[in-house]
Amino acid sequence: MSASSTVVSAAHFAYLAERTTPEEPVLAELKQAAVAAGLPPIWISPEQASLMQILLRMAKCAEVIEVGTLGGYSAISMARALPPGGRVRTIELEPERAAFAREWAERADEPRVEVLQGAGMDVLPGFAGHSADAAFLDADKSSYGAYLEESLRIVRPGGLIMVDNAFAFGQLLDEQPSDGEVGAVRAFNEVMARDDRLDGIIVPIGDGLWVAVKRD
Ligand SMILES: C[S@@+](CC[C@H](N)C(=O)[O-])C[C@H]1O[C@@H](n2cnc3c(N)ncnc32)[C@H](O)[C@@H]1O
Repeated sequence: MSASSTVVSAAHFAYLAERTTPEEPVLAELKQAAVAAGLPPIWISPEQASLMQILLRMAKCAEVIEVGTLGGYSAISMARALPPGGRVRTIELEPERAAFAREWAERADEPRVEVLQGAGMDVLPGFAGHSADAAFLDADKSSYGAYLEESLRIVRPGGLIMVDNAFAFGQLLDEQPSDGEVGAVRAFNEVMARDDRLDGIIVPIGDGLWVAVKRD
């Protein structure tokens, strides 16, 4: 760590959260409804959504793919950063979650979200090469390596690949992690770090967000 780095604490996160573009009311309502419907509260934070929106805008993204929709929070957030006619194709394994996300995309008046119900590795191979400007991976961690390969095929050169939970639910550095997916995250982080088709960095926001650019 360089001498000028600051160790980011929960207090820093609270500070930056207070200074980030406020969350849209409809997204706060979505989260309340999701909890009431029994969905697990494992969506990205508003600050992470804000960062992703800025990145999508900077990379002039119109077509985004996502694996792991849950209730549609991240999909709707990303769609807000796209031009008219843009699209987030988002894949969700669980039919009830996919239905919830479709309903809330409609309530949010967000036609740029297209929810595809199925397993990531059943749906992704049907997407054409170079048909997306960005990918966001946020589903089963043991499939991250396979999702990355598919994303590298689907995302255009110069496009963005973002992957959630690089800090493995806060357990990345634990000697005896309790979560069964920590090993998969650790292995995936090594793959990302060494893949010479990407320039990437883990941004310490939320549970750690890989942000990578696919090399030309
Ligand atoms: C962390 S949640 C996604 C949160 C969402 N990206 C957000 O921030 O609003 C992960 C989702 O991935 C889904 N999932 C798990 N395995 C999957 C698979 N093989 N294919 C597609 N979705 C999967 C889960 O059902 C869950 O809803």
